[in-house]
Amino acid sequence: MNITPLQKLKSEILESAGVSLWVKRLDLIHPVVSGNKWYKLKYNLSAAQAEGATTVLSFGGAYSNHIHALAGACKMLGLSSIGVIRGEAHTPLNRTLQYAESCGMRLHYLNRSDYRLKHTDAIQQRLKDKYGDLYIVPEGGSNALALKGVAELIPELGDHYDRLCCACGSGGTLAGLIAGLDGHKQLEGFAALKGADFLYADVRRLLSEAGFIDPNNWQINLDYHFGGFAKTTAELLAFIRQFEVEQGVVLEPLYTGKLFYGLFERIKAGAYPQGTRIIALHSGGLQGINRQGE
Ligand SMILES: Cc1ncc(COP(=O)(O)O)c(C=O)c1O
Repeated sequence: MNITPLQKLKSEILESAGVSLWVKRLDLIHPVVSGNKWYKLKYNLSAAQAEGATTVLSFGGAYSNHIHALAGACKMLGLSSIGVIRGEAHTPLNRTLQYAESCGMRLHYLNRSDYRLKHTDAIQQRLKDKYGDLYIVPEGGSNALALKGVAELIPELGDHYDRLCCACGSGGTLAGLIAGLDGHKQLEGFAALKGADFLYADVRRLLSEAGFIDPNNWQINLDYHFGGFAKTTAELLAFIRQFEVEQGVVLEPLYTGKLFYGLFERIKAGAYPQGTRIIALHSGGLQGINRQGE
């Protein structure tokens, strides 16, 4: 694993707001297990190995960055993997699932109503009956072990910042950062899903499962979902293109595009006092970038 750079962004918007903004380039960690995935999977996979498990199973949508990273990581570690995919099988497979299969991952499709029950004993027993002994990682990889891994990112950031921002899907990354900061600084999540106020409860549950008391130094912005998960608009895509030209950083429209769009909107609206120093995580996900074309 590389220690990834903190890249300072230059822009007139930042200058006129008096805000400094760095991007933590987690997208550069590793070609396959990139972004937040590295930190979220690290202790889950070492726990699987310590338990002597040979097969790891997890859940995700057909374009899931988590499934993609898990397949690659399991291959590297010599573990078998099973991806339980929401919805029907579609052929030809999209590139995410093609890659997962090429790593040896077996794909198991669950219809949407069963998928909603994926974390119940009944569904998990059905999967164990079919595949034998399994080490099960929850959807998105978000659990107490993921928080432990994500918390280890904090020392990499140094101390020259006031506020840490990240994109939110399941909330595991934000919860891990809150745990790692242990009441210091302010944190802000940007939800990739519409109507995601449930994330407040999910983040609190993850913190308590990992043995942390909620320090209440965080918030989640719910207004930058662009219509919902995996939905996009011409405005968001134009922002992503311009960001790449101006900053030399490639974003994707599901998570990091929405994070930086939302963050710049808030900076323009004067949400942060002059002198605020912000770090925003580039949590990777670039493997999914061509999904619209598939
Ligand atoms: C690229 C990317 N960024 C951010 C997230 C959100 O992470 P979390 O589910 O931990 O909130 C994900 C979700 O898996 C992701 O793939």
